[in-house]
Amino acid sequence: MNKGRLLFASSEVYPFVKTGGLADVSHSLPRALNETYHVCVVLPLYGAIDRKGFKIKKIESFEVVMGGVSYDIQLYATRYEEIEYRFVYSPLLCDREFIYGPPEAGYEDNGLRFGLFSYAIAEMLRREQYPIVHLNDWQCALVTLLVKEDPSITTKTLYTIHNLAYQGSFNPSVLSQIGIDERYYTMEALEFYNQVNFMKAGIAFADSITTVSPTYAKEILTSEFGCGLEGFLSVHKRKLHGILNGIDSEHFSPVNDKALVECYSNAKGKKASKIDLLKALGLKGATKPLFVFIGRFAHQKGIDLLVETLPKIAELECNIALLGEGDESYSDSLSAISEQYGNIVLTSGYDEALSHRMYAAGDFLLMPSLFEPCGLNQMIAYAYGAVPVVSHVGGLVDTVKKYESFDEQSPSGFGLIFSTPTSRSLLSAVKKSCELYSDKKFFESIVNHNMKCDYSWSESAKEYIKIYKRLIK
Ligand code: GLC
Repeated sequence: MNKGRLLFASSEVYPFVKTGGLADVSHSLPRALNETYHVCVVLPLYGAIDRKGFKIKKIESFEVVMGGVSYDIQLYATRYEEIEYRFVYSPLLCDREFIYGPPEAGYEDNGLRFGLFSYAIAEMLRREQYPIVHLNDWQCALVTLLVKEDPSITTKTLYTIHNLAYQGSFNPSVLSQIGIDERYYTMEALEFYNQVNFMKAGIAFADSITTVSPTYAKEILTSEFGCGLEGFLSVHKRKLHGILNGIDSEHFSPVNDKALVECYSNAKGKKASKIDLLKALGLKGATKPLFVFIGRFAHQKGIDLLVETLPKIAELECNIALLGEGDESYSDSLSAISEQYGNIVLTSGYDEALSHRMYAAGDFLLMPSLFEPCGLNQMIAYAYGAVPVVSHVGGLVDTVKKYESFDEQSPSGFGLIFSTPTSRSLLSAVKKSCELYSDKKFFESIVNHNMKCDYSWSESAKEYIKIYKRLIK
């Protein structure tokens, strides 16, 4: 059968460049779709990407005219794990120290930078006639409008919202720079509190919209989670679907993971990893439960709750290992706490191999998110046999069932859930975790069950394929 073509556009893709879960999904979803489609993934060629290591070669260049200014775009390519990648290079977009900006704030000209990325994608659609383009987050959202504006592009657009909290809002002066007509500066289109909002373009002009879990798809229609766009999303809700993310179950598999001292396939097998990690981090007591936190130090991830609660958790018989980076004030608070308590260790930065060792060593994964569009860490934790301790929001609702109702026949994983985002309820969930841990047999049966659950893309990829098919029918 002749496979259809699909262009998948994202501002970050693992392993080339990653700041968060978007990069993981942009790596693993195209892999899952590649059996059904010829998928080509496009991203910017940031300076930090290892061109040599990934054998990235220049294939062509073209001009893009945006806001009356002509930009020279160079297109690069490589093949990696059977997927075709295209990289858009222009000094304006790519020659920066950071991808989006320093930790405190995004670059001021991000509207212009990702506007140019979107123009380059639209030009690719003109040249290569893709039937479908799958666009991710605000950085690619403008493509939907560019496609609507140009009748010569017949491509259908699917826009995925990974996190409504990042909308790409800019001063209205960006309009003329990105060559978007003033008539789009209205409430029905790009205008949002006197700013130009890229996310709104995706919502208004995409042929179909998805977000990354069924619960988040409902939550974003409410004022509590809608980030001000709940009304606008409600207008467009007929084309909005929630599809749960998956994880790359080959990449996240303790049976075959080079980062681990010893591979394993059941709860008992985790011991070597735990001893290894405790030693590496200078923690003592392999019989005590080990809690791990892995993620961005951002408000969303519940870091305020962690900062408030960690000193009380530290009083319990347990160890805590934290890994991540993000807002400086959070890093400072967490590092002050870890210096104060011998059983808490903080590792700053993003370290993929260390994160795998932590999932493998951890008995519990802490995920006290205030909101969570999907969350991937809880699913990775299942694969490695760390029991998730989560708040009751977004994708966490869809993926974590209460351990009190443990049922071996269930296809779902089990963990500890706290429903109110307060320090008290987090602490109480951690205390319960410690109790569960001491019930060795029960704990192990939960871990063994979770490790067997399927959180790969196999089901969710089918949902996307259904939408693509509907779009080109
Ligand atoms: C964002 C969300 C996270 C989601 C990821 C991938 O990082 O915050 O919940 O899992 O995107 O879709």
